[in-house]
Amino acid sequence: MSKVKLAVFASGNGSNLQALMDAARSRPGAPVEIALVVSDRRNARALERARDAGVDAVYISPKRAGGRAEFDAAAVRELEARGVQLIALAGFMRILGADFVRRYENRILNIHPSLLPAFPGTRAIQDAWEHGVKTTGVTVHYVDEGVDTGPIAAQCPTLIRPNDTIETLTAKIHAVEHALYPQVVFAAAEGRVRVHGRLVTIKPPAIQLPPVR
Ligand code: GRF
Repeated sequence: MSKVKLAVFASGNGSNLQALMDAARSRPGAPVEIALVVSDRRNARALERARDAGVDAVYISPKRAGGRAEFDAAAVRELEARGVQLIALAGFMRILGADFVRRYENRILNIHPSLLPAFPGTRAIQDAWEHGVKTTGVTVHYVDEGVDTGPIAAQCPTLIRPNDTIETLTAKIHAVEHALYPQVVFAAAEGRVRVHGRLVTIKPPAIQLPPVR
């Protein structure tokens, strides 16, 4: 079977990109080929990881693009040139405009380090920590026009134990992300994920949630 062409958008470290690249390479029958990595930061470690892995990577300068619509249009040109069918946001710090989201409706996934709808936004781990919650976690969701508001595909809890620090909590959350995201992206690539309004269903085999720590 031919593989689904996946693009990963990342602005920072790219550890989730790495997890996706590793899974795409090493899992037997992996249904995706990472056709492109897009970044809005020239020095993103994610770009370096892509190039190290021999994956096509582009930096789109927000400044040179001019505005959101222009940035999105530049991204669309790169995606279309490679026949990208599915998009995974992985620490991508820009908001994609309504036209872009509509064009790839139900084909853009994002990973977020909290149990949405709690703690949306860019400081989710810190916000959960400062709020004093006892359980937080990871959410994989489809991207709609809001910020971290789209239909939820999968979630996994992470406990905040008395001896945790924000550093240990962050490490636990990232470990959950790396276990969860490739599975959900692969299920979507296999056509096993359906979005019915806000409800997302995944046909078997079920996502294997990492142990709750
Ligand atoms: C992750 O915590 C992800 O949930 C959030 O941004 C972070 C990206 O980390 N959206 P990395 O760049 O994948 O290491």
